[in-house]
Amino acid sequence: MVGIGQESLREGESLIRVENLVVEFPGPRGSKLQAVSDVSFDVMAGETLGIVGESGCGKSTTAKAVIRMPPPTSGTVRYDDEDLAALTKEELRSRRTDLQMIFQDPISALNPRRSVWDIISEGVEIWGTHGVWTDARLTELISSVGIDPQYRDRKPFQFSGGQCQRISIARALALDPKVLICDEPVSALDVSVQAQILNLLDDLKTEHDLTMLFISHDLAVVRNVSDRVLVMYLGRVAEVGDADAIFDNPVHPYTQALLSAVPGSGIDNDGSLSGELPSPLDPPTGCRFHTRCSHATDVCKTTVPEFRQFGKDHWAACHNPQGTPVDIT
Ligand SMILES: Nc1ncnc2c1ncn2[C@@H]1O[C@H](COP(=O)(O)OP(=O)(O)OP(=O)(O)O)[C@@H](O)[C@H]1O
Ligand code: SF4
Ligand SMILES: [Mg+2]
Repeated sequence: MVGIGQESLREGESLIRVENLVVEFPGPRGSKLQAVSDVSFDVMAGETLGIVGESGCGKSTTAKAVIRMPPPTSGTVRYDDEDLAALTKEELRSRRTDLQMIFQDPISALNPRRSVWDIISEGVEIWGTHGVWTDARLTELISSVGIDPQYRDRKPFQFSGGQCQRISIARALALDPKVLICDEPVSALDVSVQAQILNLLDDLKTEHDLTMLFISHDLAVVRNVSDRVLVMYLGRVAEVGDADAIFDNPVHPYTQALLSAVPGSGIDNDGSLSGELPSPLDPPTGCRFHTRCSHATDVCKTTVPEFRQFGKDHWAACHNPQGTPVDIT
């Protein structure tokens, strides 16, 4: 598969391959908080991989670990078939421009003291780019994200949230990235502005030939933008695969519960989420979802479920899946 440490069944190239990723942070009184626990997935060149899951499940930490901010505690991230951990500082620096990230809060992501022009061109000055950026090309870039270049000397506070997100996107694109990691890029924006930014990202993806990681807790948005989807629960992958398979035929009780909360999803409410999300400082044994799962049996409390395949590109880790595993050889 795509991402569970088995052979890829998909055609096309894997641009990013994450294997057995673990990210730990220091917790209170000498404890460790494992924000990401043994996560594996592939991102194929040219696709958008959506990452979903409740707050605190490790979406942002996973994405940041891909760009080594911070470097993972263990596991590997291969980009374009190179292990990023094995690169020298200089090599990593040159690859880092390929992988750019935009964040949820566009206003605080921009330096308030600098003009739009300085913000967008500063990355080019620091990092350099693959192409040659002239003032004319930067001006064109500013226009292409929907900002009038005549406002290039204005500061971020003179723009709305949506406009600041456009500026963040231009700043990222100025570095000629191959991968754009979008961490809740529209969550802080009004609904009408959300649609504009999503359309812009879609247009730019085609224009700049981008591969995208798209993190959101908004499942409707993820469905809209993603080719494939990764569902995370408490630091682990619950289900992963083709977006249509995940949204139309989820087999993991957690995915079903998440989707049942979306109006019009067609997934019934039997498995709707109840109970508190356990603390990542002391995650449940076995399947981490067992404390909230209406399908849990004894084995779920003791044994971490293995991934099984439910379609050509559809995988889930569950002892009692709500679908029949397939054997595709
Ligand atoms: N720098 C850090 N230091 C300590 N703990 C952290 C740090 N960053 C994240 N965490 C913890 O790691 C876990 C995963 O956090 P993360 O931000 O990746 O989740 P998320 O899925 O992006 O959540 P949200 O939807 O709220 O953005 C959480 O328990 C969080 O508190
Ligand atoms: S492994 Fe068990 S507890 Fe976990 S999702 Fe499946 S049925 Fe529920
Ligand atoms: Mg986050």
